[in-house]
Amino acid sequence: MKLRVAPADTPLKGAYVPPGDKSISHRLAILGGLARSRTRVTGFLDSADTRATLNAMGALGARIEDRDDEIVIDPGPLKAPEGPLDLGNSGTGMRLLCGALAGRGELFGSTLELIGDHSLSSRPMARIIKPLTGMGAMIESDQGHAPLKLSPRTLTGIRYQLPVASAQVKSAILLAGLAAEGNTVVIEPGPSRDHTERLLPAFGAGLHDGQPGIGVSGGQVLHGGDFHVPGDLSAAAFVIAAGLLVPGSEIRIDNVGLNPTRDGVIRILQAMGGRLEIALGEDLGGEPVGGLDVRDSELVGIDVPMEWVPLSIDEFPVIMALSAVAADRTRIQGAAELRVKESDRLAVMCGQLARLGVELEESADGALIHGGRIRGGQVDSGGDHRIAMSLAVLGLVADSPVIIDNAEWIRTSYPGFVDDMRALGAEMEWV
Ligand code: S3P
Repeated sequence: MKLRVAPADTPLKGAYVPPGDKSISHRLAILGGLARSRTRVTGFLDSADTRATLNAMGALGARIEDRDDEIVIDPGPLKAPEGPLDLGNSGTGMRLLCGALAGRGELFGSTLELIGDHSLSSRPMARIIKPLTGMGAMIESDQGHAPLKLSPRTLTGIRYQLPVASAQVKSAILLAGLAAEGNTVVIEPGPSRDHTERLLPAFGAGLHDGQPGIGVSGGQVLHGGDFHVPGDLSAAAFVIAAGLLVPGSEIRIDNVGLNPTRDGVIRILQAMGGRLEIALGEDLGGEPVGGLDVRDSELVGIDVPMEWVPLSIDEFPVIMALSAVAADRTRIQGAAELRVKESDRLAVMCGQLARLGVELEESADGALIHGGRIRGGQVDSGGDHRIAMSLAVLGLVADSPVIIDNAEWIRTSYPGFVDDMRALGAEMEWV
């Protein structure tokens, strides 16, 4: 499907509440499905990715009730699913589930198969297969790619140093460690999102200081509880970007997750001159949550500090879009991980920005983007939800309409994006 975005001729104004956090929703689906007592979740993200994880837990025997305003997950007993577990487009779903299930084979008694769509089947899985195999897991893959076939094995704890900061890999190992014998410790080269570490104690699973690293001891039983998912800063990032770009805009964002391991985008946009005011509220479900006031801003390009890259890894498509209109130039380095996301985000974003007349140079681990005018025209999402939304935001300040091909991928993380943007005054329509 094509999304047509018209250049904005009026400011974006109003109050906005982002949809539930995707990372936290995936984790609650998995932990809730493994828990021995009822889990209730409000604010769960209703998207194709999170549904895929929830459905996988259902296929494994968790009883899931989807009520209007909450998801209720009751314990199994867990059983062998009737067919492969299809994680669709979701790297988080596949990697975390693989870790969580690698040592629970006795519950299923047979080989489990995890499959995904074309994009997911081309993303690297060796990064989880290696540590999980080191713990004793038996995982067959297609040369390090999905489909993944897990055979029942007993796992033993491991001490593992992550080669790159990755919350998915860290979480896969910690979840495997829960079902392993002995202690498991993960050491990160730098901070990555810590939602798993925040949630595990809430499910009654203790973590310890791995000196260094994060440790979890095996054989712990999970207990459900009541949870609320805060709004997703990664979804709000598109609205923030639109508010910064469109002259005269003023947007109040409420109930957005402000976890310091996710807030790189705020730091980067403020460093670029973005007028963003944070009002930190009380923690909700163990996560910092608050409000953000966004006003139109004169953005100026920067050298993005490399230590902020893992803290804003999903926001680079939209940061690249903003860099294309900021004064001066923006240099992104140390971001090679962007090449193994839902698409090769460096290549796809650079290619599409160039089609809109942006001057840039792509490098192995980043890009140098010169700000300037955006001409309208036809671009393609490359099958990547975040690229579709980033290009849509840029269309608001283009010289003429921008039409985004394959924009339906937006549904994987943010089905309400177009409606939310329209409610703030943007002109976007499916054509
Ligand atoms: C996620 C971690 C990040 C991020 C992804 C969600 C998570 O991936 O890009 O969208 O929920 O743990 P990596 O761990 O591969 O960096």
